[in-house]
Amino acid sequence: MSAAATPTLEVRDLTVGFGGVTALDGVTLAVRPGARHGILGPNGSGKTTLFNAVTGFVRPRAGRIVFAGADITGLPAHRRARLGLARTFQITSLFPSLSARANVAMAAREKLGVSGDPWRPAAAHAAAEERAAGLLADLGLRHLAERTVGSLGYGEQRELEIAVALALEPTLLLLDEPTAGLSVAETGALVELVRQLPAALTVVLIEHDLGVVFGLTDRLSVLLNGVLIADGPTAEVREDARVKDAYLGR
Ligand SMILES: Nc1ncnc2c1ncn2[C@@H]1O[C@H](COP(=O)(O)OP(=O)(O)O)[C@@H](O)[C@H]1O
Ligand SMILES: [Mg+2]
Repeated sequence: MSAAATPTLEVRDLTVGFGGVTALDGVTLAVRPGARHGILGPNGSGKTTLFNAVTGFVRPRAGRIVFAGADITGLPAHRRARLGLARTFQITSLFPSLSARANVAMAAREKLGVSGDPWRPAAAHAAAEERAAGLLADLGLRHLAERTVGSLGYGEQRELEIAVALALEPTLLLLDEPTAGLSVAETGALVELVRQLPAALTVVLIEHDLGVVFGLTDRLSVLLNGVLIADGPTAEVREDARVKDAYLGR
């Protein structure tokens, strides 16, 4: 990163607690524009909580969230989404009876500001449909467009979730364990999809599968019990003795 480049995301001294549990404890990290940034850590180490705080789903006890140079700590989730911050969930959040394209089009209508507005011209809705079809094609998912979500395989649903998130035209995409529960073949397909995302899009990825993390990310932050224990280029962090001890069990 050149000294002048403003990080896409900065988390400063972030502390999040739930009752007596400190889920994140003074976490500071920065995500560069266009990065493929991994978040690694055992179950319960605070990874999802970090995404929840960044996207506005939980309120931190202390610390700041800065998005493209603007402090968004106090903003509600929908405002953050509108600024260009999108996420997928660890649990699938699609409408199973609708087609893949209809699911993406719903998000596109949200972006175009025509959702739920019957007075807007049909052309605006058609634009959302067209955008959905184009996005699915760009992601190599054209063959899924007319299938109902309920008829898709689990791996295909995880891919579709990424398409839905991209319909909001984000600059930052947060993926929470996108390969959890996927077969080897499904994981391969998902990794390929992430590889082909636009280079300008910044991606932060929570991922358990070390092969996936090491293969996809250029930067890596490692959490243990809510504390950031390592942060830096993936090639360096994966050799870090603390990370190996704490996480890799070596
Ligand atoms: N909404 C919540 N209410 C209470 N405790 C929570 C909540 N969300 C997370 N936690 C707790 O915070 C810790 C971190 O959880 P989480 O961020 O989900 O970890 P990870 O995603 O790394 O597995 C855990 O101890 C978890 O039980
Ligand atoms: Mg989690």
